[in-house]
Amino acid sequence: MSEKLAIYGGSKAVTKEFPWPIYDSGDVDAVTEIVQSGKWGNPDCGDEIARFESDFAAYCGSKYAITCVNGSVSLRLALIACGVKPGDEVIVPPYTFITTASSVIECNCVPVFVDIDADTYNISPAAIEAAITERTKAIIPVHFGGLACDMDAIMDIAKRHGLRVIEDAAHAHGAEYKGKKLGSIGDVGSFSFQSSKNLTSGEGGIVITDDDELYAMMRSLRNVGRIEGGQWYDHYNPGCNYRITQMQAVLLSHQLKRLEAQTQKRNDNGLYLNELFSDIKGITPLTRSEAITLHCYHIYIFKYDPNEFGGLSRNDFAAMLAAEGVPSFKGYPHPLYKQPLFQNKNFMCYAIPDHVDYTQVHCPNAEQACSSDAVWILQHALLGEKEDMEAFAHAILKIQRAVS
Ligand SMILES: Cc1ncc(COP(=O)(O)O)c(C=O)c1O
Repeated sequence: MSEKLAIYGGSKAVTKEFPWPIYDSGDVDAVTEIVQSGKWGNPDCGDEIARFESDFAAYCGSKYAITCVNGSVSLRLALIACGVKPGDEVIVPPYTFITTASSVIECNCVPVFVDIDADTYNISPAAIEAAITERTKAIIPVHFGGLACDMDAIMDIAKRHGLRVIEDAAHAHGAEYKGKKLGSIGDVGSFSFQSSKNLTSGEGGIVITDDDELYAMMRSLRNVGRIEGGQWYDHYNPGCNYRITQMQAVLLSHQLKRLEAQTQKRNDNGLYLNELFSDIKGITPLTRSEAITLHCYHIYIFKYDPNEFGGLSRNDFAAMLAAEGVPSFKGYPHPLYKQPLFQNKNFMCYAIPDHVDYTQVHCPNAEQACSSDAVWILQHALLGEKEDMEAFAHAILKIQRAVS
């Protein structure tokens, strides 16, 4: 007889908690010291901010890093610095967080959605190439869940068509493609430090680049359009106050010391889950190519097949799995173009031509991921031990036995 599922009042398959964020007295003392120093912020941005930026740039193998208030504004800084003009087109995936695309709208540009690859959930290089027009200015590949996009193919397309590449690495701190840190391959890499992210200060963001001009512009935009060596009340560029505080910076510096070891652990646990799940019918982890030398599993994603679970819908399965104590979720309910924002073209944006009609966009792979296939296990769960990964597999098998 099958065990009673936790969703119906049975005991949970996984009882352990997986804390996030992780900190110790070193983090607390460092923040306390800043509070006591009274140097909480600095328009020029303060020692701790400069220190963290330099450490993060070095960690990523990039020349420069500029912190800012979040991983949405960071995309805006990158787009403006890359020289987009009203009406330009920017190619984005539809399976991502809203601001990958809404940052484009905020710059008075046109997001062009192209489909994801069904096996990786990352933007499809072939679909990018097919969508390029004379108005295309940039591509924003998102390393979804921390799984690297096909950067060789994307950089090759960008080079051939003279396009800028802004890597949305909001999920990808520490992950690598062919030994290079994600975010350091395109013109700009953009990261988020929001609470759920693999490196966090509650809120925050950063951009990295090797390009001197992009650096100067993004730094200026972050600091109300001021320029290096300029006067305090002289403003040259359309920026705003997007600066972070010293408390965030010092916390990030402490968190950064843990990042590499945490990334290795998530990578190892992700590989172990792949192995465990390969024995479970109806569960297919996303494809991880040889080019992915380090995966940070901000989200561990697998595809679910209801036919192997007695026809149980993905939504019901995901609810049962979460009830069993696996930190998991069904993910996005819709591809971005289905959001009311795009369906109704509810933009304060004058440069989107009338012929742009998001009700006509159709990306079958993204739609299938949202409606019926994708299940996410969240990053903090991958900081558990091997036996915890075994418990996640056990939870899935428990559901399978109960519903088949
Ligand atoms: C892929 C992606 N890009 C950008 C962002 C925006 O980051 P933030 O919440 O720091 O603005 C997020 C946040 O979840 C994200 O998932």
